[in-house]
Amino acid sequence: MSKNNIVVEADAGVHLISRHIYGHFSEHLGRCIYDGFWVGEDSPIAHTRGIRRDIVEALRAIRIPNLRWPGGCFADEYHWMDGIGPRSERPTMVNTHWGGVSDNNHFGTHEFMDLCAQLGAAPYISANVGSGTVHEMQQWVEYLSLDSIGPMAELRAQHGRREPWQIKYWGVGNESWACGGHMRAEYYADLYRRYATFCRNYGDNKLYKIACGPGNALATPEEDYHWTEVLMREAGRYMDGLSLHYYTIAGPSWKEKGSATDFAEDAWFAGLYKAQHMDELIRRHGAIMDRYDPEKRVGLIVDEWGTWHDVEPGTHPGFLYMQNSLRDALVAAITLNIFNQHSARVRMANIAQTVNVLQAMVLTEGEKMLLTPTYHVFDLYKVHHDATMLPLRIECERYAGADADMPVIHASASLDAEKKIHLSLCNVHASESKELRCQLRGAVPTAVTGQVLTGPAINAHNTFEQPDLVRPVEFGAYSLHGDVLTIEMPARALVALELR
Ligand code: AHR
Repeated sequence: MSKNNIVVEADAGVHLISRHIYGHFSEHLGRCIYDGFWVGEDSPIAHTRGIRRDIVEALRAIRIPNLRWPGGCFADEYHWMDGIGPRSERPTMVNTHWGGVSDNNHFGTHEFMDLCAQLGAAPYISANVGSGTVHEMQQWVEYLSLDSIGPMAELRAQHGRREPWQIKYWGVGNESWACGGHMRAEYYADLYRRYATFCRNYGDNKLYKIACGPGNALATPEEDYHWTEVLMREAGRYMDGLSLHYYTIAGPSWKEKGSATDFAEDAWFAGLYKAQHMDELIRRHGAIMDRYDPEKRVGLIVDEWGTWHDVEPGTHPGFLYMQNSLRDALVAAITLNIFNQHSARVRMANIAQTVNVLQAMVLTEGEKMLLTPTYHVFDLYKVHHDATMLPLRIECERYAGADADMPVIHASASLDAEKKIHLSLCNVHASESKELRCQLRGAVPTAVTGQVLTGPAINAHNTFEQPDLVRPVEFGAYSLHGDVLTIEMPARALVALELR
């Protein structure tokens, strides 16, 4: 008998894993939008109507399901009317949250909707409650989706778009307990009800309204749970989703986050250990939601998550530009496994932030672009999009840090529409390979294919000089006997297996 065992209930799947769990987030922050997605129509870099083509192609390849915009904290000081009309006539604004830099509003509603169309992704707009009015928000919904005669539909037509867009995901405020207005839960719950009332459905466009939920930045965890309690009690019936934010910090505090690439095994362990906290957050906030919404009508929308390290040396501290390594890839894999397992309540999630900011999918430097280790995780996990989650049990060794330990194996499984089983398996040990025995109860597969994502060191990462150091390669270290698969899991690795 192996020390590491998984039992997958291959014929007991009930819940679908929404592809929207694999969503992304892009804010007007540092080089995410400007000098990221948006290079402008005069750029020598290949683009379509100002939107960078290599980034669009890379994100289409991982089937990006949705994109959240324009913030983050930026959303609560963004006034959408400044971002429409001829670009040369748009006013500038100061991005007070992120470096105090000037934003010329060249990337606005039309550009964002064009980006989503190019990506084949559903737009998710996070609208301004903190410094915006109900009227302003109401008019934005009208501008986007009104399918009949009205001043906003007329304005849209004047700016070149007669047809309404389809817009489903609609966030009413962001982190309203902090940068979005430092509100109390009781006050925000009432504001949410008021703002959400005037966000109307026009024609066949049906909004999915997302209220600002808890984060991990309130003074105590109890305050975060209080936030969920109040929101569900006072406003639950008016919302479709409630957000949750959680960032993984490998260092001991926000002030001592640590480097993205220059770290030892203690910080490797800490990052992976802290990623597991997502499970507790979903369970505890989910338990509060269950009391008010036992049918699970309201989705838990984890619309900001990911790692947050020190910025790269020499870069603007307000731009949050950081590298990401194999450690970030495994944080992503652990987190996505947790989301898959909680797919009955978690309906959408958005990793922060797609391009050049925090745990990005791609980094750019002039015309060069590289894919990060995290990108490859999203590529390997796209098999779970809209598949049926398969319940599993793991019994395994513990991986010990200085004053804590964690399971050495993390996993999730699903069954896709073609009846293929997909296993996503992580060995988080920094240096030891592990034998893993996996029983597939209720299925007898006859063929297996695999890929592995690992690297020569725990801090392995891709650079513009060496862009393919961490990338998936074919994996064949397994044997299949009946319904039992035995896998030799390399150290610090994600293994993705497909069974037919
Ligand atoms: O993703 C960076 C910032 O983190 C977002 O703007 C804010 O919502 C969160 O605090």
